[in-house]
Amino acid sequence: MTARLVVLVSGSGTNLQALLDACADPAYGAQVVAVGADRDGILALERAEQSGVPSFVTRVKDFTDRERWDEALADKVAAFEPDLVVSAGFMKLLGPAFLARFGGRTINTHPALSPSFPGISGPADALEYGVKVTGCTLFVVDEGVDTGAIVAQTAVPVEPDDTVDVLHERIKVAERAMLVDTVGRMSREGFTVDGRRVRFGG
Ligand code: GRF
Repeated sequence: MTARLVVLVSGSGTNLQALLDACADPAYGAQVVAVGADRDGILALERAEQSGVPSFVTRVKDFTDRERWDEALADKVAAFEPDLVVSAGFMKLLGPAFLARFGGRTINTHPALSPSFPGISGPADALEYGVKVTGCTLFVVDEGVDTGAIVAQTAVPVEPDDTVDVLHERIKVAERAMLVDTVGRMSREGFTVDGRRVRFGG
């Protein structure tokens, strides 16, 4: 059975592209059935179009409040009947309505080694702190900020002359590989979440 993925994006979509490329091989075990965004005019939406994958945009500013937006986003995603929702550079927190429907099968990639440096500036915070090793984390989304149960992590060295952009780009190379490997395994083998322990296999 091929797992149905809905991928949520806000930016350049290089993680999305890595998944689209992996899904071109039927043996990968997953298919991107839709791409959802919180804004227009982003490269990630062009990537979806170029791959012939349907997309939708659900903007916070089109709703009276975050709760309504969260419900609308959940409705849009539900229409594509995903097995797994992949937040890949999606710059919004998913709320209670969304997690009530997709909790336990929504994963997010974060450019730091959790529990260090949660939030939107993981690479900058790691550089500022002076760590010699940082990396990326794939986790099952919960109501916190980058706090969910960890599915996979990859370490990435911090080099002496790194800028935030250089470090983030190095992390993103590892992040794409981690995402493709892990989503493939989750799709082919299934997974279980037991408290903070995530295991592959049904
Ligand atoms: C990734 O590093 C992701 O973890 C972070 O933003 C970046 C998104 O990159 N939140 P892209 O849009 O997939 O190229």
